[in-house]
Amino acid sequence: MSPAPILVTRPIPEAGLERLQRAGLAFVAHPHDRALDRPALKRLIRGRRGVLATLHDVMDAEVFESAGPDLRVVANLAVGHNNIDLAEATRRGIAVTNTPDVLTDATADLTWALILATARRLGEGERMVRAGRFEGWSPTLLLGADLHGRTLGIVGAGQIGSAVARRSRGWEMRVLYTSRSRSESLESVCDAQQVPLEALCRESDVISVHVPLTDETRHLFGADEFARMKADALFINTSRGPVHDEGALAAALREGVIGGAGLDVFENEPAIHPDLIRSDRAVILPHLGSATRRTRERMATMAADNLIAALAGGRPPHLVNTEVAAV
Ligand code: GLV
Repeated sequence: MSPAPILVTRPIPEAGLERLQRAGLAFVAHPHDRALDRPALKRLIRGRRGVLATLHDVMDAEVFESAGPDLRVVANLAVGHNNIDLAEATRRGIAVTNTPDVLTDATADLTWALILATARRLGEGERMVRAGRFEGWSPTLLLGADLHGRTLGIVGAGQIGSAVARRSRGWEMRVLYTSRSRSESLESVCDAQQVPLEALCRESDVISVHVPLTDETRHLFGADEFARMKADALFINTSRGPVHDEGALAAALREGVIGGAGLDVFENEPAIHPDLIRSDRAVILPHLGSATRRTRERMATMAADNLIAALAGGRPPHLVNTEVAAV
């Protein structure tokens, strides 16, 4: 008997699965809420025509080989697609899709939650209260940083970076940005100024990272970049962990080179550098950027729609490797 055409690599919001059911597409959904290990992925993908994958599923030549020649589409449940070897997928005529736009606001909100938590030392405060160490108001207790009127440096002026910048108007911040291309909307809406990364590092009080992970952005932030930052600068990353060198960041926090870090992503997720776990200067979250109910439902239906379109022989609405013309 031939296998169900679709593999869903881990539990996703029901809305996505219902969409597949309504389209009459049979699927196997891995029941455990953890990333499939590689042998299991290679076994379960065999003979499938489509995969609904998540960001910890590494989809490379070996996995495509295990799938066999029928694999037509990998629909990633994420806007980032660094887990997929795009060139290899394209070479094999496999469409790769993502879930852009629907997660922009949720991720920008989470970024601001991290900026505020880091500036105002919310993690430390919570830990103190829960440990029974709160002894009443004090004029010197956990003094944090003001954000109002300070400088926000946005690295990567795509949808999410721009949404983060727009939210800074509430704090009347000066906005600098570093991006491959000019963003006229950011300049007109936020009066933002495009500057090289070096200047952004030197002048910003808060540096927030919103670039995709590519060969060019891997370790974009290392010891040199942290050394250039102000001693009270806050480094925020809600994009992908390997964009910063985690060892260098841990050292920069340990040695007081920068003021703090708010991190939703880590270099070797789910592992986290022990010095970051120990550091009171770091606010660390378990990759929650797009984690609202509505956003995740939208992402799941979007991924399902991409699969449905591709398996019907059409062009999926959110095709990343546009070179794959006819799916
Ligand atoms: C989440 O990290 C995403 O890329 O959508």
